Amino acid sequence: MAITTDRDLDAFRARAEHLVGHHRVVTDNAYTRWFAQGEATADEVRHLAVQFSVFSHLFLEAQLHKVLNAGTLEAYRAGKEILLNELGVVFRPQRAGAPGSDDIDPDLVSTEGTVDGGRFRFGAAHFEWLLRFGEPLGLGFDQLGKRRHGTPSTLFFCDELVRVYGSEDPSVAEGASFAVEHWAAAGFWKELIAGLRAFKERECPELPLAFWAWHDKVEDQHAAHTDDELAAAFSSPGFDQERFLAGAAEMLDGVAAFWDGLERDRRAGITSVARAEGSGR
Ligand SMILES: [Fe+2]
Repeated sequence: MAITTDRDLDAFRARAEHLVGHHRVVTDNAYTRWFAQGEATADEVRHLAVQFSVFSHLFLEAQLHKVLNAGTLEAYRAGKEILLNELGVVFRPQRAGAPGSDDIDPDLVSTEGTVDGGRFRFGAAHFEWLLRFGEPLGLGFDQLGKRRHGTPSTLFFCDELVRVYGSEDPSVAEGASFAVEHWAAAGFWKELIAGLRAFKERECPELPLAFWAWHDKVEDQHAAHTDDELAAAFSSPGFDQERFLAGAAEMLDGVAAFWDGLERDRRAGITSVARAEGSGR
């Protein structure tokens, strides 16, 4: 077996960061840049809400695959932290003496800690937060989060998440994780929040933005964890640098397809409402 050194790790980390940091979905996301200007109409906000709800809900499938395919007990548990938190287990802060929370609202529940010993609350499921976001937009349970609500580009993204992020090959899966976390920490939440704030002030004062704010807050620590994971993956037996980088690149292409789809729909004036009417639903 090849002996790896800290210098090898640093060189590899630099390659991975370069790949992610220079991908166009990180450097040049036309949709979120436009959305941040705050000019989206109610129909355009609804279209984003529906497509995002499909991705966010079907992400559970990818996360379950990630857990099932985990290469180490550590990775298995790290995957479950995310999966169970998504489903509604509230993080329990790990600092000694920190008060446990009985809240379910995203503006109140902890963004750090562990699901181990945490409490499950139906209302703390991230999908239920999105349902509450959809309510003042006139979107009900049957209009959010189902595969049938996804456009082809949204579904391509969701399927790539299962295939690449949930891959059986730990090198590929770790690469995809690294890519997703770094993309998510690079600022798209803030752009969406800026646009949603403007929309809320202009025409929908009761719109709860906590789903978006919670995720923005959680991202920085996710990215830090992923750096630790990169180091752990790098030194694990069988790790393949090229497959890691390929997984990262393929995953980012999937992410880009999602936003490109929203951008194309926006330019063509396609909204979820129009889609639903057009297909007779
Ligand atoms: Fe989430």
